[in-house]
Amino acid sequence: MLLASALLPLLLFKGCAGLQHREAPGKALPPSQDPWYTAPPDFESASPGTILRIRPDPSNITAIVAAEVAYNILYRSTDTRYRPSWAVTTLLVPKTPREKRNGTDGKAALLSFQIPYNTASVDAGPSYLLATNFGLNVPGVMPFTAYIDDALRCGWYVTVPDFEGPTASFGAGPQAGHAVLDNVRAALSAAELDDNPAATRYAMWGYSGGSIASAFAAEMQASYAPELDFAGTAIGGIVPDLTEVFRKPISNVSSMIPAGLLGVTAQYPEARDFLVSQLKTSGPYNATGFLQALDFTAFEAIGYFGLHNISEYFTNGLEALYAAPELARVFGDNEFQGYHGIPQMPLFVHKAIHDESNGIATSDDLISHYCKVGANILYHRNTVGGHEAEFINGIPRVFEFLSAVFNGSYGERYNTTGCTWVDVSVDVTAPATGES
Ligand SMILES: *[C@@H]1O[C@H](CO)[C@@H](O)[C@H](O)[C@H]1NC(C)=O
Ligand SMILES: *[C@@H]1O[C@H](CO)[C@@H](O)[C@H](O)[C@H]1NC(C)=O
Ligand SMILES: *[C@@H]1O[C@H](CO)[C@@H](O)[C@H](O)[C@H]1NC(C)=O
Ligand SMILES: *[C@@H]1O[C@H](CO)[C@@H](O)[C@H](O)[C@H]1NC(C)=O
Ligand SMILES: *[C@@H]1O[C@H](CO)[C@@H](O)[C@H](O)[C@H]1NC(C)=O
Ligand SMILES: *[C@@H]1O[C@H](CO)[C@@H](O)[C@H](O)[C@H]1NC(C)=O
Ligand SMILES: *[C@@H]1O[C@H](CO)[C@@H](O)[C@H](O)[C@H]1NC(C)=O
Repeated sequence: MLLASALLPLLLFKGCAGLQHREAPGKALPPSQDPWYTAPPDFESASPGTILRIRPDPSNITAIVAAEVAYNILYRSTDTRYRPSWAVTTLLVPKTPREKRNGTDGKAALLSFQIPYNTASVDAGPSYLLATNFGLNVPGVMPFTAYIDDALRCGWYVTVPDFEGPTASFGAGPQAGHAVLDNVRAALSAAELDDNPAATRYAMWGYSGGSIASAFAAEMQASYAPELDFAGTAIGGIVPDLTEVFRKPISNVSSMIPAGLLGVTAQYPEARDFLVSQLKTSGPYNATGFLQALDFTAFEAIGYFGLHNISEYFTNGLEALYAAPELARVFGDNEFQGYHGIPQMPLFVHKAIHDESNGIATSDDLISHYCKVGANILYHRNTVGGHEAEFINGIPRVFEFLSAVFNGSYGERYNTTGCTWVDVSVDVTAPATGES
């Protein structure tokens, strides 16, 4: 679900816990303490995607990635229950934008990059923690900022939404879909890009938790943001059914279950009360420990929950939660892809066949489901690696796809209709093994 989730439990158990990264990145304040992160009066009357506030990013992100300037934008959006809401994104402006480069067709490129920040804390979103890379300063683990830097060096504008919104609703699909679509609307209307919206191509990218937000956005675009015309969407490590991942009480990603359950119930007070009522109140696995997930980054959650059996926190176990009528509708509305519309733009989808977080079967089902109704998809099933490895293995193919959709060569290089399923063997760490 999150990069390095397989590695970090071990690393943290050897003493890498106690992350001190949440001390002020640059001059930024935690969102919960920063009055900038509040909706202006009467924000409901603005149309979704309207910029409500904009400021130079107060962190030192421009010292870390090759951005000329970075902004935080607070924009009108819609929550997971389809009520007026708002969200924040970080818009990074490249030093030499594509449209100003010689030898291009003069069109700008905007990439909406959905980071799998997987947390139930409003103080752990990208707009606040991107500059410190969520505390992920672990040797051998590539930070997300490295790929943002690559995109900026391609001349692409990059927008990085806090798609969980102001309630940190990790796992709430429509919430994320709305926030991603409105973040693109907001970025397109920012001064840097609004000269001529038709002169900007835009695309989405997300892996794992970021693929959930991207896939919901791709499904919901036709109904929620019909004026948008995405050049493409790249999603990897897809999670068509989040409950499949979170039913396993001990796994490399089970430390994210508390944030997932708290996140998906954040906008449903009765469901949240029911969830909390099911927690044990004493013993080593109790409500007090569980509810700390409300303040953890994903990495802090890995440090605390590690390989705890999450079922042990519940009086009747975890499986009973997924069977509870009090929660069924919340899961049904939020955690399943394939029910909110047909992606209209070209998709590049990649997944490891041996992805241990949720397997390949539900991914194959989702892609078949989209393909039956006319989607245009290149689907790569990688015989090599698992969930973590596939993020890295996918990078060159993702950048190739994004480059093609941004420079208008997609039609020459990819099938523009129907679906192409390919089993590949890609291992970027072993140059001898090519794509088969
Ligand atoms: C950015 O700020 C963080 C937190 O203040 C600091 O740890 C880091 O070294 C800074 N990075 C750069 C490149 O200035
Ligand atoms: C584009 O080409 C012109 C003429 O060769 C040159 O002066 C200019 O610096 C180039 N611009 C960029 C962005 O490379
Ligand atoms: C974690 O992932 C590794 C690598 O895929 C796998 O070998 C291991 O069995 C997983 N651990 C658990 C607890 O699932
Ligand atoms: C709750 O769990 C924590 C961590 O295991 C433990 O320190 C604390 O004593 C527990 N509380 C109760 C009331 O058992
Ligand atoms: C996790 O805890 C539950 C509830 O106590 C138990 O039924 C289950 O067997 C445990 N799973 C593992 C893998 O230990
Ligand atoms: C567009 O991008 C693709 C993929 O990187 C590249 O192979 C191709 O040469 C580019 N075409 C143009 C016209 O820039
Ligand atoms: C296009 O589709 C055909 C038929 O499925 C396939 O053989 C070919 O490899 C595809 N081309 C690309 C570029 O994906």
